[in-house]
Amino acid sequence: MVGMPIEFRAVRKVYPDGTVAVDDFSHHVPSHKTVALVGSSGSGKTTLLRMVNRMVDPSSGSVLIDDEDVRTLDPVVLRRSIGYVLQAGGLLPHRTVLDNIATVPVLSGTPRRAARTAATELLERVGLDPSLGPRYPSQLSGGQQQRVGVARALAADPNILLMDEPFGAVDPIVRRELQDELLRLQAELGKTIVLVTHDIDEAFRVGDEVVVLREGGRVAQAGTPSQILTHPADDFVRDFVGADRPERLLTTVEVDGRRLVVDANGRPAGVLSP
Ligand SMILES: Nc1ncnc2c1ncn2[C@@H]1O[C@H](COP(=O)(O)OP(=O)(O)O)[C@@H](O)[C@H]1O
Ligand SMILES: [Mg+2]
Repeated sequence: MVGMPIEFRAVRKVYPDGTVAVDDFSHHVPSHKTVALVGSSGSGKTTLLRMVNRMVDPSSGSVLIDDEDVRTLDPVVLRRSIGYVLQAGGLLPHRTVLDNIATVPVLSGTPRRAARTAATELLERVGLDPSLGPRYPSQLSGGQQQRVGVARALAADPNILLMDEPFGAVDPIVRRELQDELLRLQAELGKTIVLVTHDIDEAFRVGDEVVVLREGGRVAQAGTPSQILTHPADDFVRDFVGADRPERLLTTVEVDGRRLVVDANGRPAGVLSP
């Protein structure tokens, strides 16, 4: 797998109405890693993500992919070479599942039959039955639609995957399954992934690195999940990650010779393996 790091260099975005969506953001996203940008609604996450595939051009600063300024790249070619997963799948409702997945490869010149064959394989890759291929998106569950969204983003075999609140529209149990699926896929594929979410638990679960954002895309803290949990930079981060939340504060007690993990309310949270 080709290495494809992303570099945000002092990017700023002021929308035409004067809103400063991103003030001054710098960050390096290493190849083959998942970086989760996490922040409240309006903190500039989507704006930052869209700077990578040029759906938004920064007002100043630059984004580099593999040391190349994206401004020098054709936006259409760039977008087709980067997987983009949206909340609620973003599928075309009047196209079948297979055709949704095959859209970009066909646009890029892959013959339709070959693209459909590849799309069928991708369905299996994201844990869906290939028999779903002829269905329309409305005939799938929310979780299935999200998986199709991931399959579609992978169809052009991109080195980079951008995910904008990809699991936001599904219930917590399905969300958990999709997060596990992403971890499994990423272990196989080793893409450079930037995932944005407002859910700190999701960020901790899927991110090799987590960037906690304040308003205006200001970095409150960047680090591994364990660094952030054990050493929150300030009260803002402490509140955001809920470092004091009962389920974060675990202790162990011995019961019948085994170590039982209990939360701050004394409720069992698990058992330590011997
Ligand atoms: N096209 C736009 N025009 C004006 N303001 C915008 C536009 N898109 C986003 N914003 C504003 O920029 C800020 C950041 O938005 P966004 O990047 O969508 O944040 P997030 O994804 O974290 O919710 C918000 O205040 C939002 O209202
Ligand atoms: Mg957003």
